[in-house]
Amino acid sequence: MEYDIKELIRTALSMRKMSYTPYSHFNVGAALLSKDGRVFTGCNIENASYTPTNCAERTAFFKAVSEGVKDFELIVITGGKEDAKELDYCPPCGVCRQVMSEFCDDSFKIILAKSETEYKTYSLDESLPLRFSPKNLLG
Ligand code: THU
Repeated sequence: MEYDIKELIRTALSMRKMSYTPYSHFNVGAALLSKDGRVFTGCNIENASYTPTNCAERTAFFKAVSEGVKDFELIVITGGKEDAKELDYCPPCGVCRQVMSEFCDDSFKIILAKSETEYKTYSLDESLPLRFSPKNLLG
């Protein structure tokens, strides 16, 4: 499908302003594109008890699924310290990869962006090979 990668990266970068990160000060923003062309945004939301912290990627997925959307094309992820002058690539954590594997097929694209022009694209299959997925339970 057609999409404007620069605009998606801009959206992910702008979501870093919404991050709630009083503990790590590490702000992550995500833009999740569904197959029907909708964009679901996410930021990380931390918690004083630490483990309830929700990553930006899962925020975006859960917003989409809670609105009835379950078919996805790609996710753009941006992240770094809140005061960073320039960003490094921010790969998704294992828990977020597992959530992706619940809803996405092998070719789902994970796009790690430092800026509008600097980004790398990985497939879900290369990011989480040998995964336990719905296929194992549902056939
Ligand atoms: N974080 C994300 O939001 N996504 C990732 O893929 C990696 C980590 C968040 C969780 C926590 O708020 C902060 O980054 C530091 O781990």
